[in-house]
Amino acid sequence: MNLITKNTDTAMYITLAYVNEGDVVIDATCGNGYDTAALSEAVGESGMVIAFDIQQKAIDNTRALIEKDDRRNVVLVKNSFENMGEIIGNFTGKRPAAVVFNLGYLPYSDRKITTTVKATMKGVADALELIRPDGIVTVTMYPGHDEGRREKQALLEAARKLPADRYHAVHSVMINGGRKSKKSPPELLFITKRYD
Ligand SMILES: C[S@@+](CC[C@H](N)C(=O)[O-])C[C@H]1O[C@@H](n2cnc3c(N)ncnc32)[C@H](O)[C@@H]1O
Repeated sequence: MNLITKNTDTAMYITLAYVNEGDVVIDATCGNGYDTAALSEAVGESGMVIAFDIQQKAIDNTRALIEKDDRRNVVLVKNSFENMGEIIGNFTGKRPAAVVFNLGYLPYSDRKITTTVKATMKGVADALELIRPDGIVTVTMYPGHDEGRREKQALLEAARKLPADRYHAVHSVMINGGRKSKKSPPELLFITKRYD
């Protein structure tokens, strides 16, 4: 693995540095299940991944992947990540160590079903409240499409305003073009919380 050439690998590598066996973690957008599987591996049998997606196809794809690997520590929720605050209490009393947002649309699927500024801003704000101190919220942003560009702008604006004594926000972006999307490669936002 070359850690800085693939954003989703970079995002997961850094996220997993905040995650231990037995932790509860949230995959806000499970899609095809790759992030869910990586999180499931990290938290082990004593941990739990709560994975959200609004599309049945994404839930089905993720279920197929986790069943193939006989992963029993994943709960799949067909609902918007905007509602994670109310929903995760149904499964655990523990605070999540990490919440992972991989924004946009399901690859090779309907591009109209995408994350939106409104939902994303609520989801990320809630995730920042939910994570335990020293937990992390990781967001992969895709400014190559219109809504993705708006999401990036809104997220960065909000992240810059977070009080620095409570949160530490880092923005990572390839500065010499992307391999596939030369003008607008994906960008990463990492936010950790120092205390409640
Ligand atoms: C880029 S894909 C996620 C990829 C996935 N993490 C993986 O490892 O395969 C983005 C996903 O976000 C989902 N999505 C869009 N809006 C959502 C929302 N409000 N709540 C939860 N999921 C949402 C889409 O249905 C899509 O499956």
